[in-house]
Amino acid sequence: METNQKETMHAMPRIGDPAPEFKAVTTQGPINFPGDFKGDWVILFSHPADFTPVCTSEFMTFAVMEEKFAAVNCKLVGLSIDGIYSHIAWLRTIKEKIEYRGMKDVEVKFPLIEDITMEVANKYGMVQPGESETKAVRAVFFIDPKGVIRTIIYYPLSLGRNFDELYRVVVALQAADAFGVAMPADWRPGDDVIVPTAGSCGVAKERMESKEDMKCYDWFFCTKPLPEEKVWSKLKKK
Ligand code: BEZ
Repeated sequence: METNQKETMHAMPRIGDPAPEFKAVTTQGPINFPGDFKGDWVILFSHPADFTPVCTSEFMTFAVMEEKFAAVNCKLVGLSIDGIYSHIAWLRTIKEKIEYRGMKDVEVKFPLIEDITMEVANKYGMVQPGESETKAVRAVFFIDPKGVIRTIIYYPLSLGRNFDELYRVVVALQAADAFGVAMPADWRPGDDVIVPTAGSCGVAKERMESKEDMKCYDWFFCTKPLPEEKVWSKLKKK
């Protein structure tokens, strides 16, 4: 491997890894990550650059949805390879000047990390040189209350994120944990959930014949209802 190639290679954190630790300056003051967020879910996300259009549309959407995430105990932390004064000026411009799709006077209250040295972006594999050597891609890390990475999604520079999906991921991960089940394709609260696969043929047969409110498509694929009220009663902050 060429030396210059080696220098730009960084380990990528993976699902199931503890979130890499860092201290940083943000628009809301210094943070110690993930320590300051223990006990909460947190979405750590990167955007390529301040004062760019896709990022602006995303920040406005995240800011408008912040309370919805907070209601399921999930905090937001943004990052880009820009300095703090750029962040402050951009967020002020968003609040004072931008009206977009019915969103206006939007105040971004969650922390935005300055990462001019790329230290954090490199630790999290947010710089993907094939896409850009100087800008972070649109990475999204979902971190649980114990500080463990539970889901990672990457989008390229040219594609804004789907925020309904980001919210669905948080709710689905929390519901899967709370009820000891797995979530099928496109799951949303109120949909049937997947019962963990039976450990043996005997258990599977029993299960397929059981009168419990379960539906088995085959021995390895059983679902059961999980009413929406039950999901929200566990997830929503009291
Ligand atoms: C944007 O957010 O609009 C953007 C940022 C970097 C490259 C391309 C688009």
